[in-house]
Amino acid sequence: MTKIVIASGNKGKINDFKAIFEDFDVVGIKEILPEFDVEETGTTFRENAILKSEAAAKALNLPVISDDSGLSVEALEGRPGVYSARYSGEHATDETNNAKLLEELKGVENRAAYFTCVLALSIPGEETITYEGTLAGEILSKPHGANGFGYDPLFKTLKGIYLGEITSEEKGEISHRGKALEKLMNDTAVFNKLKK
Ligand code: IMP
Repeated sequence: MTKIVIASGNKGKINDFKAIFEDFDVVGIKEILPEFDVEETGTTFRENAILKSEAAAKALNLPVISDDSGLSVEALEGRPGVYSARYSGEHATDETNNAKLLEELKGVENRAAYFTCVLALSIPGEETITYEGTLAGEILSKPHGANGFGYDPLFKTLKGIYLGEITSEEKGEISHRGKALEKLMNDTAVFNKLKK
């Protein structure tokens, strides 16, 4: 069975890929390279996703999928963007990031924002392929709901759905990550390349 490595330490993400690539041996990178770490020096989600997948594919000589994601806020000129995970500093948590976002948007009328997810697939000897999904909406003035992670409690979609109120399955159907995954799943040429 062809092995596919997921360059992420997140068990939820790894399980998502196991479901899609059921005919493949999907493993998390920490199982094979526990020390794997890449500095995310890119200025876009795409650049950072490619940095991770290419570094891992080179180190392992195996197909690797990585992802990079985050929140871009219009009134903040796209911030926190690629710095979403570390927005409030080195020891940032979801709570401190959300508190900082609310503080920066205090009194700001334009609350438009969107999430982006880029998946990068590097197959040794082939050019890296990327798939992107976005989810547009607005930043609330206070947290709403107890579900999700990251900035979910502060996000309402254009269709009026509170990400803090829905299940992860429901979120997978509408999210930036779900959309990027769907594009990858529909890329039949890629499945053929991986089976070779
Ligand atoms: P990554 O793991 O480097 O892609 O970091 C992504 C960061 O962006 C996370 O730590 C979250 O703060 C934020 N983020 C990405 N996707 C989502 C989402 O679906 N909901 C809420 N926050 C997200």
